[in-house]
Formats: sequence, C-alpha cells, structure tokens
Amino acid sequence: MKVDLYEKIWMIGVSVMLVAFFSVIAYESFAMDRMPPSHIETIDPRTVVGDPRFSPQGVRVGADGSVHAHVVGLTFTWLPQELVLPAGRPVTFHITSTDVTHGYQIVRTNAQSMVIPGYVSQFTTSFTAGDYLVVCNEYCGVGHHQMYTKLRVVPEAEWTPPATPVTAAPAPEAHDAH
Ligand code: CUA
Repeated sequence: MKVDLYEKIWMIGVSVMLVAFFSVIAYESFAMDRMPPSHIETIDPRTVVGDPRFSPQGVRVGADGSVHAHVVGLTFTWLPQELVLPAGRPVTFHITSTDVTHGYQIVRTNAQSMVIPGYVSQFTTSFTAGDYLVVCNEYCGVGHHQMYTKLRVVPEAEWTPPATPVTAAPAPEAHDAH
C-alpha cells in the first residue's frame, strides 16, 4: 500500500503525540501520586453549618491518632482561617463548599482538590515544617483572588493536638449512584 509522504508524516506525528500524552499521565499517576479526587462522600450544601463533619471546622484527632483537617470553602474564604498541623504526620483533609465550586490548592505541594458543593473532597498528605499558602484555583466570582488561607506546619514536638480528641467523622449514609 502506498502512503503519501505527508500522510506518513502526520501519522507518525500523531502517534508520537499520543505516546507522549499517555506517558505524561502515567508518570503523574505513578511517580507523582496525582490522582483524581474521589467525590464519593456526599453532603447537603445547605446544612454544612451544623453537620458534625464540619462543626466545628478545624483540626481533629481520630481515636487511632490520625490527624484530620476539616475545611469549608465559601465565597470568598476558607474556614477556619488558619490550620496548625504537625510536620511529618499524614493529615487527611475533608473539604466541602456551601455555595459554588472552589479549588483547594496547597501551593508548592502536589496537594490540591476541586471542592464541589454537595461533595466532601478528601486527600491525605504530609508536610515538612513551615508556612504554606492555600489558594482557590477555580474561578468562583469577583472575590476569587482574595480566597486564600494559611497552613502553619510545626515540628511534631511543638504541636498541640486539639483539646478534645474527636473520632473521625462517621461514614456518610448517602452515596452517589455510579
Ligand atoms: Cu473560591 Cu475561587
């Protein structure tokens, strides 16, 4: 079969591009641990305030010693305004929105997640000591650029766990149909 030279060039070019794109996805997934956020746990966005998973917001310690950060995004802020976390320990974030879609991005780490009303986004990561900026990376309205907050990560010896250890939030009853 005779294939025109230009057609050959296009076929080879497209094949090279496909291999390159799939390689990037594979590298991000396996070498950099980048995964799509789960979006399995649901919540009624109208009753986030009052829901035991987010009242109060902030840091909680599970019965097994695991560290959890419960965060609410709303136009145009994150609650609580500052989280103090221990360095070197896995921290599981539980994040939801009361209004529109936001994006929780911990700058200079690979931790970030879309925050969609109706869902609780969850990811686990750990930090070295220092201050971290958190920004909103989904355009959410006129105050989008002001929607930032701070994480203060201190050496574990200097970290004071919350006064009352609270068991991790109970599993949600409602699941999305897949
Ligand atoms: Cu919230 Cu942009």
